[in-house]
Amino acid sequence: MILIKLGGSIITNKEKPLSARKKTIDNLAKSLKKIQEPIIIVHGGGSYGHYWSVKYDMHTKERKYDLRGVSIVKNSMIELNKIILDSFLKNKLNPYCLPPTDFMTGNKPITKKVKEIEKISKSGLIPVTFGDALWYGQNKTYILSGDKIMTHLAKILKPKLCIFALNEDGVYSDLKSKKLIRELKGENPTISENKMDVTGGMTRKIEEATKISKMGMKVFFVNGNKPERIVKAVKNRKFEGTLFRGK
Ligand code: IPE
Repeated sequence: MILIKLGGSIITNKEKPLSARKKTIDNLAKSLKKIQEPIIIVHGGGSYGHYWSVKYDMHTKERKYDLRGVSIVKNSMIELNKIILDSFLKNKLNPYCLPPTDFMTGNKPITKKVKEIEKISKSGLIPVTFGDALWYGQNKTYILSGDKIMTHLAKILKPKLCIFALNEDGVYSDLKSKKLIRELKGENPTISENKMDVTGGMTRKIEEATKISKMGMKVFFVNGNKPERIVKAVKNRKFEGTLFRGK
C-alpha cells in the first residue's frame, strides 16, 4: 500500500485565492492511474483551506475559533475535494471520499476506522481524504493538516512508501542555488528556517516526513509537476527527489 499526499502548493495556485490547478490535477490523476497497487490519497488546502484559515486566524492549536471560520474553511475544503474527485472520475480512477471526520475523534485517529481505509484501498477504490477544520471537543476546533494525517495513517497502516507531491523538486540545502538533498537518513536536516519555505509549510512537511521515516518507512518528496516521478518512485526506478530513509 502506498500513501500519497498531494500538497496544496501543487493542486492550487497559492498566489491566487480559491484557484485550483485543474490541468496539474488531471496530470496527477493520469499518472496515478499507472500505479498498480493500492493507494490512499491525502490532499492539502493550498489557496482554499489556508486562505480562509488565515482570514479567520485559525491554527493547528485547539481553541475556540470563530465558528463562521470553521464552517467556511470546511466548505472550501469540500469544494477543493470535489475538484479532485471530479478529475479522478474523469480520468477513470474510482475515488472514495473520506473527510477526516470519518476516522478522527478529537485530535486522535480511530484505529478501527483507519484500518477500514486500508481495506477500501485494497478493494481497488481510492480513498481520498484532506486537511480540514475539525471539532476537538469543549467547543474547541483546530486545523488538521494533511501532513499530520499522513503521519497518523502511516503509523497505523505501515505503508510500503509515503510520497509527498510538492511544487518543488524536493528538499533543497540551499534555496538560492536550489541544490537538492537526495537523501536524508532519519536525522532532521540542518537547514535554517530562513532558507526554507517562507510559510513554514516545507518545515512542517519535513517534520512529519522525518517522524514517518523514524518509524521505519521510506518517504519520498517529489515534484508533482512531473507526476511520472511519482510512478517511478513507486516502481523503484531511478528516483528524482528527496528520499527520507527509514531506520
Ligand atoms: C491544510 O492542509 C488544511 C487547511 C488549511 C484546512 P495542509 O496543511 O496539508 O495543506 P497544504 O498542503 O500545506 O496546502
